[in-house]
Amino acid sequence: MATAPHPSEDGARAAVASARPPRIEAAGLHESVGNPVLTSMTLLNEIAGRFPDAVSFAAGRPYEGFYDTRALAGHLRTFEDYLRGEAGLTDQEVTRAFFQYGRTKGIIHELIARHLANDEGLRADPEDILVTTGCQEAMVLVLRALCRDRRDVVLTSYPSYVGFLGAARLVGMPVHGVREGATGIDVDDLTARIRRARAKGLRPRACYVVPDFANPSGATMTTADRRRLLEVAAQEDILLLEDNPYSMFRLAGSRPPTLKSLDRDGRVVYLGSFAKTAFAGARIGYVVAEQPVADGSGGSTRFVDELAKLKSMLTLNTSTVAQAVIGGYLLEHGCSVEKASVREAAVYRENLRHLLGGLTERFGEGGADGAAGKVSWNTPNGGMFAVLSVPFRADRAMLEYSASRFGVLWTPMEHFYAGTGGQRQLRLSYSVLSPERISTGLDRLAALVRDRA
Ligand SMILES: Cc1ncc(COP(=O)(O)O)c(C=O)c1O
Repeated sequence: MATAPHPSEDGARAAVASARPPRIEAAGLHESVGNPVLTSMTLLNEIAGRFPDAVSFAAGRPYEGFYDTRALAGHLRTFEDYLRGEAGLTDQEVTRAFFQYGRTKGIIHELIARHLANDEGLRADPEDILVTTGCQEAMVLVLRALCRDRRDVVLTSYPSYVGFLGAARLVGMPVHGVREGATGIDVDDLTARIRRARAKGLRPRACYVVPDFANPSGATMTTADRRRLLEVAAQEDILLLEDNPYSMFRLAGSRPPTLKSLDRDGRVVYLGSFAKTAFAGARIGYVVAEQPVADGSGGSTRFVDELAKLKSMLTLNTSTVAQAVIGGYLLEHGCSVEKASVREAAVYRENLRHLLGGLTERFGEGGADGAAGKVSWNTPNGGMFAVLSVPFRADRAMLEYSASRFGVLWTPMEHFYAGTGGQRQLRLSYSVLSPERISTGLDRLAALVRDRA
């Protein structure tokens, strides 16, 4: 039989029921919280979650077919053997390396330096490398450091990687868009925009570029354009933030040199990620930043050490366990990411060929000019993305319609323009799909296009 509550319990319950948490006004939060750039990913995930059977060209996720949980333990053991052997650590030091707070700048910097030498011909001093929680953290740190006040601005070509745009919002750094052509950033437009910004009293600090198979456009810069970009950066005295997650995934031909390997005067801050080559769950990225920072009294530090100060207040250090897994992965492949990702590169090549062939089958040879009323697309030479131009508005409402009526998802390109373009374009990501699913998805996309014609 239930007993009647004690009168004082009643009072306590009433107090709990009436206690309201303090109301937080959205308008009182940092500007970035409500910014559409930051909500675009959540929106996509939300739509994808409601249509689990749709073919998704939306997710820019790496291929999952080679993941093997048993390999993780092997990577850890390999790294442990390396610490005991080559690195000469005692048992206690090895235990600490795995379990304790770690070095702010990371513990796999030597191995990353070897990878950069092997795969990119880059001679990076390991002390100039900061291991970060994904490339995303590296972007936030670099922008945080470069943004002293609202006069400091950063440039990037539009369309640009949404993670970069979001990082800039997070630190409150205005982004100035630069035109992009079929071969990446328009260097003349960059010069003009830097000068225009200076004329307004602003301080353009850096330009962010993904020279190989950009996300979302798939564009790749020619070697000549890379050299010109370095010249312009020197002439205009700005830094270049080079982000290079996709260069291993080339359809044909040899890889052009990275900006960093062409850089003779330390203009380039190099951002790396193991998300697409090893696996994203480790959340391991890094930044190479050897630039001297003058302290105003004759001394100097290095940019990497200033970034490390910021990191020590953000994530303290990147997970040592995650670093150990990636360290083992690197060691098992002779510190060559190119060798380690041969199988993934083959999958992406096959998928890209299949996608481009499938587009031609369904939409004809034409349309490569993007003329009104036609469907057109670019032909990237690698990476994970292609862009389709369509004769109708490809926004969130159309995505809903596409998902519910035709069972196919894609990413509206306007997400990557910060509201300045891309309204009739969609990004197609083919990395996680099988060729069969790509065919099915393209059939559905063709049905959507017919429906809208
Ligand atoms: C241009 C670009 N940079 C970096 C990354 C990877 O960042 P992270 O290492 O934080 O996963 C991605 C992933 O989508 C990307 O497209």
